[in-house]
Amino acid sequence: MRLHKTLLATSLLTATLAYSCNDSQQNANATTTETQPASAAPASLKAAFEGEFTIGAALNGQQAMGRDADATPVITQHFNSLTAENIMKWGPIHPEPDKYNFEPADALVALSEQNNMELIGHTLVWHNQTPDWVFENGKGKPASKAQLLQRMEEHIRKVAGRYKGKVHGWDVVNEALNDDGTLRQSRWLTIAGEEYLERAYRLANEVDPEAELYYNDYNMWKPAKRDGAILLVGNLQEKGIRVDGIGMQGHWGLENPSIAQIEESIIAFSKLGKVMITELDIDVLPNPSNRNGADIDATFEFDAQYNVYTDGLPDSLQQKLAQRYADIFALFQKHSDKISRVTFWGVSDKNSWLNDWPIKGRTSYPLLFDRNYQPKPALEAVLQSVNKQANAQ
Ligand code: G3I
Repeated sequence: MRLHKTLLATSLLTATLAYSCNDSQQNANATTTETQPASAAPASLKAAFEGEFTIGAALNGQQAMGRDADATPVITQHFNSLTAENIMKWGPIHPEPDKYNFEPADALVALSEQNNMELIGHTLVWHNQTPDWVFENGKGKPASKAQLLQRMEEHIRKVAGRYKGKVHGWDVVNEALNDDGTLRQSRWLTIAGEEYLERAYRLANEVDPEAELYYNDYNMWKPAKRDGAILLVGNLQEKGIRVDGIGMQGHWGLENPSIAQIEESIIAFSKLGKVMITELDIDVLPNPSNRNGADIDATFEFDAQYNVYTDGLPDSLQQKLAQRYADIFALFQKHSDKISRVTFWGVSDKNSWLNDWPIKGRTSYPLLFDRNYQPKPALEAVLQSVNKQANAQ
């Protein structure tokens, strides 16, 4: 920990300096998309980015089990990568010490195999959606380090073992960092120390040597967090522990982060392995000023002033969202040599977690398909961004 902090302090200083000086020049060449005559857009997202990166969506339990009839055709037409939004997390899949609930995840595996899609396992070790029993000794006291690491080992062997050869890659550890780049004081860290990170990746590698292994987090465009992630993954790799790539979740807004900030992290993370945009959505709703990142616990009381588009998104916002997605995908194409996957966090606005975060019960519009699974202008803009990129080259 101490080592982590001192190294972090020094590199943070250098990064901030680097960051501030080249921000302006990057803005100059930031990828903006001027209006040009629309030529035939690709028929689907997966066709559009064929050979560049896979394009995915996070599916909820109903969609994974084929019980959302309107979703399935959109999923199979547009996506060639699937992530489990919740059903492969510790709580849902392993709710009690000797109880596993594999049915929804098994159905997701079948759906991905039937449609020749890569399946991403999300997530083996996380501070959220992990039952309390994992961290307790059964007498209401914290578990011992040995007990916790034993439970992690059993969980990874059971879950990653069951889907060996079926999962393309695992988010082995999710959100282990604070935004200042220091390690999150989760019960994983406070009980087991930094060793939990090493153990998790060693175990996942042992159980499924073919599956790619990732570190995944949000706000990874922030220089301090980026440096913390580079240190975390770099330290593991230096010890010969396999980490194949870094996931930038991508829970972004219409203006923030800037294209330059995102680009800076894509380039930096590519030095350590594959870069993935793992949970992309664009929040168009007004939010309390201190809304930040994607920490599910950072919520606010309902306030109608933040739920302003209950009768549909005004066309001006639809166009702003379309432009934002087009700019972001132009950047992804510019760095398709570094980016292996782009996954949307959901299929349509109907099921987006942003309808209930950071304020429960809002009407949000963060994705490319509306509540009836119909394409939004943003889909067309993303598909057209391909042509523009091709013409620009
Ligand atoms: O399954 C129970 C259901 O039985 C119960 O009736 C219902 C009552 O509230 O809750 C259901 O569980 C909900 C679960 O989603 C499944 O729908 C939880 O309350 C709810 O908190 C949970 O939210 C998920 C959240 O992670 C939890 O942390 C979101 O759907 C999911 O989109 C979100 O995803 C995370 C990524 O895993 C990591 N990065 C950030 C991202 C957004 O927070």
